Amino acid sequence: MHRAAVVALTSLFTALSLPAQSIQYIESRKVWLLTTSQSSYAMGLGADGSLRHLYWGAPLWRLDDLQGPAERRDVSSFDPRQMLENEEFPGWGGPRYYEPALKIVRENGNRDLVLKYASHRIQQDDLDIVLKDIRDEIEVTLHYRVYPEYGLLRRHATVRNGTATPVTLESAQSAAWYLPPGDGYQLSYLTGRWAAETQLNHEPIHEGAKVLESRKGHTSHNFNPWFAIDAGDAAEESGRVWFGALGWSGNWRITVEQTPYRQVRVTGGFNSFDFAYPLKPGESLETPPFYAGYSGSGFGGASRTLHRFERERILPGGSVLPGGATSRLRPVLYNSWEATTFNVDEAGQTVLADKAARLGVEMFVMDDGWFGARNNDRAGLGDWFVNPRKFPQGLKGLIDHVNGLGMDFGLWVEPEMVNANSDLYRKHPDWVMNFPDRPRSELRNQMVLNLARDDVKEYLFGVLDKLAGEYNVRYFKWDMNRAFSEPGWPEMAPADQRKLWVQYDRNLYEILDRLRARHPKLEIESCSGGGGRVDLGILQRVDEVWPSDNTEAFDRLRIQEGFTQAYAPKIMSAWVTDVPNMNGRSTPLDFRFLTAMQGALGIGANLNKWTERDSAIAAGMIALYKRIRPTVQTGNLYRLASPRTNDVTVNQYVAADGAQAVVFAFRHSQQYNTAAPTIRLRGLDERAVYRVTSLDGKLLEKQPQLSGAYLMRAGLNVNLRGDFDSTAVILERQ
Ligand code: DGJ
Repeated sequence: MHRAAVVALTSLFTALSLPAQSIQYIESRKVWLLTTSQSSYAMGLGADGSLRHLYWGAPLWRLDDLQGPAERRDVSSFDPRQMLENEEFPGWGGPRYYEPALKIVRENGNRDLVLKYASHRIQQDDLDIVLKDIRDEIEVTLHYRVYPEYGLLRRHATVRNGTATPVTLESAQSAAWYLPPGDGYQLSYLTGRWAAETQLNHEPIHEGAKVLESRKGHTSHNFNPWFAIDAGDAAEESGRVWFGALGWSGNWRITVEQTPYRQVRVTGGFNSFDFAYPLKPGESLETPPFYAGYSGSGFGGASRTLHRFERERILPGGSVLPGGATSRLRPVLYNSWEATTFNVDEAGQTVLADKAARLGVEMFVMDDGWFGARNNDRAGLGDWFVNPRKFPQGLKGLIDHVNGLGMDFGLWVEPEMVNANSDLYRKHPDWVMNFPDRPRSELRNQMVLNLARDDVKEYLFGVLDKLAGEYNVRYFKWDMNRAFSEPGWPEMAPADQRKLWVQYDRNLYEILDRLRARHPKLEIESCSGGGGRVDLGILQRVDEVWPSDNTEAFDRLRIQEGFTQAYAPKIMSAWVTDVPNMNGRSTPLDFRFLTAMQGALGIGANLNKWTERDSAIAAGMIALYKRIRPTVQTGNLYRLASPRTNDVTVNQYVAADGAQAVVFAFRHSQQYNTAAPTIRLRGLDERAVYRVTSLDGKLLEKQPQLSGAYLMRAGLNVNLRGDFDSTAVILERQ
């Protein structure tokens, strides 16, 4: 642990009388207590040797308070005690009818699995607990990592077949989490579709199961692997919230279940749909990480906990560097896609690069269309050589030009896909995932390469490694424009074919890890037709993500609200594009800028069509963004007014050291000439005085300096009157 963090943590524990060890164990009672700055989590051994959940919530400090698990009796022959005991990682066996954490079938068809405690090991912030079947050497190691200073836990499991015969896993989850017993809970989760991702839902949890999942091979636009559960009364900045997120970019599932016994439980890991993972004797399978935390300060507190953790512990290079600095801030980016689509060439991109550089852009990204016969989406995918007609001298001329303008160069790739009309497919039709003698469905005229195959993995690594080595490419925008279909792997024995669901993503991760190791300055964006691949697994390997192909600013306000529930603004790529946008709406350029400036700012407009005035606004906004960028990208986000429930959206970012804060305010529409609501700020020092600067004179408070107490209690008023009116206010602590 970083020294500063240790000191801070020690003083925090002292202040709250919390123990100095994040993991404590009492041998006499066989109870474990895992403690972070925001939460405690406790487990104990039942008299029957099963590992039971005891507590998850606000911090506890006294180990002696912990009772062992209550011993239950069958309520009836239909309500066995096992259904009342919160087993930490239940196998499917005996009279257990809820969602299992592990389900197996042995070679002889025997499927009963009952897991009991075998041993455990504590090493600093890591706890491993080994469970074993009551008869067989089928062993599960539950891994717990405590992040005391971040308020989070990470869980996953390793399942090992120690028997002499094969065992097939039919469901392998990472963790089961239990809420305090009771009902009245409410679930928050993110849904969507292409161009409408990360829509936030809140709904009561009733008896039965609610399944959030992907069966599509990628994380998917439809559900995102994040959940939050509150006691029914939480708000943005108040109330108890239990939350979690899975780190897996393939088929995943989170099952939120309320049992008939007033118990809410959340089970998550690999999706068990079409899942079959055979383990030969001695083999094992590791499940994806499932992170979870507890916030006593509402959904905003939960989000800020995740944001900081992602920035400092998940993102590559994100760990706190000596001196407390974190990985580099995201540059202001230009992307050619909406301007030129497939019609890229050296002359056209050079003109755009010149214009982008004059605005203050720092990274110029050439999107789709630069390779093979890629003049539209019907050909060329898979042929990763530079199109000689569009770039007669290769990419070097353009890249040198871009670098000469002081910008880094980024390149679009979509490695996992192939068009039927491509040299790669003509040469290797067997590289596509397929069921023999069945149709190969095309979506956007493309098929999915079977990246689970090692030859495909090595080929793709080679292509990308060569591109990154040959050219000064600082950044890959890694796209994936369709979900899986016909996920067959005919070269494997039938029993092994479904390993594809796991092996595909492992190989994807391996390519990304190897590329980063070989090209330490290379940065990567995860895009999957917009926000189809955003999760804590891919985020360990990429620097930012593309939340949606929908760049329309008003729609984006809601997409961004949902996105930031789970993910840090720093990684939220957001472009300013031209109007009317894809949904026909036109918003003013400053509204579009202020929307995009709440994440990692990019420009995706056709700069050739911009007027002098547009360019002047853009240059001013980019300069402003650079002034507030550390606050937006590494500060604390307070969502003050939601676009779902108000005719205004307001978000406030407060720098980690409290020295600067920025407020972004948007009026969507106004009726009856009403004033915009007063904005009460959060997260300021009430005793401090702040210099208050309005972006555009729309701030109604005229005093140049205001106290934190006034700003948080009396609040700010802004003159937002028209439809799609917007403003920003900057506060600097004096
Ligand atoms: C989908 C992406 O989301 C877009 O930004 C763009 O890169 C296109 N693919 C290119 O085909």
